[in-house]
Amino acid sequence: MVKLSVIYYSATGHGTAMARIVAEAGEKAGAEVRFRPVAETRDPQSFADNPAWSANYEDTKDLPSATGDDIVWADAVIFGSPTRFGSPAAPFRTFIDTLGGLWAQGKLADKVYAGFTSSQTAHGGQETTLINLYVTLMHFGGIIVPPGYTNELKFADGNPYGVSHITGPDNQNPVNDATNAALEHLAQRVVTTAARLAG
Ligand SMILES: Cc1cc2nc3c(=O)[nH]c(=O)nc-3n(C[C@H](O)[C@H](O)[C@H](O)COP(=O)(O)O)c2cc1C
Repeated sequence: MVKLSVIYYSATGHGTAMARIVAEAGEKAGAEVRFRPVAETRDPQSFADNPAWSANYEDTKDLPSATGDDIVWADAVIFGSPTRFGSPAAPFRTFIDTLGGLWAQGKLADKVYAGFTSSQTAHGGQETTLINLYVTLMHFGGIIVPPGYTNELKFADGNPYGVSHITGPDNQNPVNDATNAALEHLAQRVVTTAARLAG
């Protein structure tokens, strides 16, 4: 059975919704799944005036947070982070920066990886965020499995680099059907590829 870790950071909850879709689709594809939010690095008081951020924090704070072991354990990892200034968010990078020891031992290599992101605007850096993530995965020696346009549905969500959601001017757009389908497709593709590599 393929082991899939879904490791993501989310402040205002879009990433959490996306990660849940990925995890469920991974299970449907036959994987054993670890669902792991990256721990919030900010004091909750600092975002107490942001209801979406506070709600997501309350919703996820008691779940086990991502650790390096969740990558070592897995055959496949799907990462998620919001786009911030065209790159993955700092808390996500803080988690990545804990992985030096495992990287030095070669324990992050030879696994299947892919990613998803969200941003407020369509051209606000979704592709650069994913490419940024994938540069790191190259350093891991990871096997990056982008979705490309390998299914008709990718022409609806339109992102061959990974999956991305546009949260909108008020940062309140829920995940739409096209993105939902693209997340399910990504999870299925990653699990299937990992199973093939395992022989
Ligand atoms: C510091 C900061 C920087 C951001 N930079 C961008 C950006 O470059 N482009 C963009 O479209 N949205 C940007 N956003 C909006 C976030 O991408 C959006 O709120 C996020 O995708 C929501 O994901 P989450 O609900 O999982 O936290 C930024 C938000 C913050 C807080």
